[in-house]
Amino acid sequence: MLTGEAATGTAYDAVVPGSAPARPVSIVPSVLPADFARLGEECAALEKAGVDRIQWDVMDGRFVPNLTLGPDIIAACRPHVTVPFEAHLMVEAPDELVPRYVEAGCALLIVHAEACRHLHRTLAAIAEAGAAAGVALNPATPASAVAHVLDLVELVLVMTVNPGFGGQRYIATMEPKIAEVRGMILDGDHDVDVEVDGGIAADTIAGAAAAGANILVAGSALFRDPEGLEHAVEDLRTRATAAVA
Ligand code: DX5
Repeated sequence: MLTGEAATGTAYDAVVPGSAPARPVSIVPSVLPADFARLGEECAALEKAGVDRIQWDVMDGRFVPNLTLGPDIIAACRPHVTVPFEAHLMVEAPDELVPRYVEAGCALLIVHAEACRHLHRTLAAIAEAGAAAGVALNPATPASAVAHVLDLVELVLVMTVNPGFGGQRYIATMEPKIAEVRGMILDGDHDVDVEVDGGIAADTIAGAAAAGANILVAGSALFRDPEGLEHAVEDLRTRATAAVA
């Protein structure tokens, strides 16, 4: 373990003096807890509340035990806001769906390493389709699964719940993996963000950010804040930023 004056940033930075400063914090809502009868209005409210982009949780009922959004629903919401859309594809066969979600207006597509027989090829295909690529890791999947694709992605998503449902408990034992992924990114001098998703709330966001996450996805914590979306977004952003200051 290296010692010395820690650079600003995260747990990983604390042990590698002079490593890169913390990357800008983004608060990204999952629309999973939104009112599906008013999704266009909900997206507009999220944009007004100051979110950096919107994440669509796409589930096929096979990769995860839940079924959610097709591309036509996302396309219908696209004209209602200007913030970028990202699709979190929790699906068994992402390759065949990539063109549909790009066409629907998603600028970034996140696929699961566990769902891709040829992950390198799938990520390259997302770029060829005109979107940025991201790769997600379920809790049991080691960080090493993304070691050879960091040049193909804009972000690595470290799941802090087992995917399929909102409102689950944050898995704090993922924090060393968050730091490990950030370390791999820094060691390879990659321009890649670390995203986390699942159980991110006022009491968990600091731990995730301090470990190395700079894109923080939240669903329940945003939509269930009694003081409203704007308060929730600002509070989470403040807490995450303070954790890496
Ligand atoms: C899990 C989903 C959730 C959702 C956010 O498959 O991806 O993580 O986005 O859930 P909460 O409500 O925990 O923020």
